[in-house]
Amino acid sequence: MRAMSEWMWYLTRSTGIVAAVLAVASLVWGFTFSARNTGRRLKANWWLALHNWLGGLTLGFTGAHMLLAFLDTQAGLRFIDLFVPSGQVGWAIGWGVVAFWVFAVVTLTSIARVRRRLPRKAWHLVHLVSVPAVLVMAIHAYQIGSDALARWFLWGLAGLAGLAIYPLSVRLLGVAASRRAAASSTRLPARQRAAA
Ligand code: HEM
Ligand code: HEM
Repeated sequence: MRAMSEWMWYLTRSTGIVAAVLAVASLVWGFTFSARNTGRRLKANWWLALHNWLGGLTLGFTGAHMLLAFLDTQAGLRFIDLFVPSGQVGWAIGWGVVAFWVFAVVTLTSIARVRRRLPRKAWHLVHLVSVPAVLVMAIHAYQIGSDALARWFLWGLAGLAGLAIYPLSVRLLGVAASRRAAASSTRLPARQRAAA
């Protein structure tokens, strides 16, 4: 029996780690595509298609992780604890639940048939909630993970944060540049008028 629960423990951890890596990869691919920083070797569409797959897989592995955590009797989770954070099980798990709901909503609203019915701005706003959700997911992994104090785990988390920061910065610089360009193009007619 003990061997069985050890297996569940390993599987819970490994699916959690894979889900976390996939979530960060989705973020990196998403920002790289949106910033049009995809280079010339591969088409922008390749980045988007892979992003969509990575996002879907994140939710898949999160589901498996949750199911395994539930089946692992040592973890002592009730079915409702998978979906509702509570003081009884604590926020270390609660953060994971919050991240799960955000990933679920982000993925479901991105299914082509649903997305077509949503205004672009609303879809985008919902989609961007995935960025803080990745942070919340990292807090969950750090607070609950059995490996959280292991050096490889901390280096892994730091490495993932580092990987995410580069495309995020490129995207933010791109947004700032296009805002500046838009502002100066609206000023242009006024300046031209003054010169006339
Ligand atoms: C864990 C799941 C996901 C995360 C963390 C995520 C994250 C992101 C991020 C950070 C961006 C860049 C947004 C921006 O800079 O404006 C993005 C863009 C995008 N994502 Fe996701 N995403 C996820 C799942 C999905 C799924 C499942 C789909 C589709 C089935 C999808 C479709 C898109 C599309 C179409 C864009 C491009 C938006 C644009 O620039 O026009 N995402 N995503
Ligand atoms: C996006 C959502 C989630 C991600 C990416 C995620 C990821 C992780 C990671 C990376 C770990 C650390 C594994 C280790 O120690 O090496 C972990 C542990 C754990 N997670 Fe999650 N998690 C998520 C949501 C949830 C949810 C919703 C639950 C249950 C309600 C949950 C239950 C657990 C449990 C019980 C552990 C401890 C496993 C152990 O070390 O004994 N997680 N998770």
